[in-house]
Amino acid sequence: MASTNGAAQVLVASNRGPVSYTVGEDGSLDAKRGGGGLVSGLSAIGSDADALWVCSALSDGDREAVRRGVGEGGVRMLDIPADVHADAYNGVANSVLWFVHHMLYQTPLEPVFDAEFRRQWTSYERYNRAFAEALAEEAAQGATVVVQDYHLTLVPGMLRELRPDLRIGHFSHTPWAPPEYFRMLPDDVAGQVLRGMLGADRLGFLTRRWADAFVECAERFAGGVGGTRIGVHGLGADADFLRQRSHEKDVEERMAALREEIGEGRRTIVRVDRTELSKNIVRGLLAYRQLLDDHPEWRERVVHVAFAYPSRQDLAVYREYTAEVQRVSEEINAEYGTPGWTPVVLNLKDDFARSLAAYRLADVALVNPIRDGMNLVAKEVPVVSDAGCALVLSREAGAHEELGEDAITVNPYDVTGTAAALHEALSMGPEERAERAKRLAAAATALPPAQWFLDQLDALRAER
Ligand code: F6P
Repeated sequence: MASTNGAAQVLVASNRGPVSYTVGEDGSLDAKRGGGGLVSGLSAIGSDADALWVCSALSDGDREAVRRGVGEGGVRMLDIPADVHADAYNGVANSVLWFVHHMLYQTPLEPVFDAEFRRQWTSYERYNRAFAEALAEEAAQGATVVVQDYHLTLVPGMLRELRPDLRIGHFSHTPWAPPEYFRMLPDDVAGQVLRGMLGADRLGFLTRRWADAFVECAERFAGGVGGTRIGVHGLGADADFLRQRSHEKDVEERMAALREEIGEGRRTIVRVDRTELSKNIVRGLLAYRQLLDDHPEWRERVVHVAFAYPSRQDLAVYREYTAEVQRVSEEINAEYGTPGWTPVVLNLKDDFARSLAAYRLADVALVNPIRDGMNLVAKEVPVVSDAGCALVLSREAGAHEELGEDAITVNPYDVTGTAAALHEALSMGPEERAERAKRLAAAATALPPAQWFLDQLDALRAER
């Protein structure tokens, strides 16, 4: 599948790639291109740049595409054995490293590093090695490789051994935990993760806070960062794309449908998230309920549009979280709803056009994660909202470093404080709201995805 036979000059490696396949009833393969910052960032290097994206085959369709040796140019999918991938992705990456980076373990019940974890860790090593070997095979002499995220922390070190000629970068899209939390990992595992990443020439993080935490961990547990450079690149929203896409016909249609659901003349509090445990959707709902209690004047006059798209449903804790979001929404509707007013409009079905429609209608955006690497929703809503929305933003989102001044800041655990912030946002005068939204949009689009990616390539090339 789309091998370059050692000719790629720029390579990206990530677990999830830019395209996925489904097998049609007639056996044909249908390709669907995904969205997101990395996809638009990579498109900036163009097709003549000998670029290759190495990723996992995740679906039956993907595996079929690999077997048939067909697929889009510029993408090579690795058909890693399903059990190895499940151990590495669900077991180590999403059940351990993701929780450590977001500082989300509910001790003392978790984590448990037992024989089962050790078995999964061996799979994680195998999975990382499969990526390192594929990259070593595809990269031209002196090529530049950018490895993405906590799934692939061992790749830089492994690749360095196989191909010392390459320029290797690694970028973390999550927060990074400070040493007191990171040390929860078994010493040898922590050491492997840090040394694996430090095999790169350059490590990128979304904010200064996460970069500093990494450096502290490296100093405490790996003898320092050595010759590895550390950079901060705050991925921004893609203003041109968002403004154009959010005025297309399907978005307008969904706006009309949403307006019907919301009802004439009502304010709209919007949130759009994947149902990741870090997103804090339940406390957001509880804050909305408290708003209705503390300020009954808002009853019938406001609707909370909450889009919570199921994610990582192979993990029980994610399934339970999605169910909890549903349960609390239903409770609020049962308790406060009236024949003409549904207080919470919850939507669990992923629909990008509908998200953009909600962004356009937003009077207030609620972004209250417990911890988040960046949070692009916080950056996208002010760009798209028609009237300029107020932003209620957790101080624990990476985006807060750039947007804090014009947002209304909340402590994500403080439900009462979040209810008060929602009231403040709803009460803000239209002029102040529009002015703040303008400044928020400017800060949010300072580093669009294409530039974000090119900056990393430039820095990587300059540093060796
Ligand atoms: O929570 C954000 C994040 O963990 C990113 O760091 C990562 O790129 C993405 O989610 C991976 O999501 P998925 O598990 O759906 O591929």
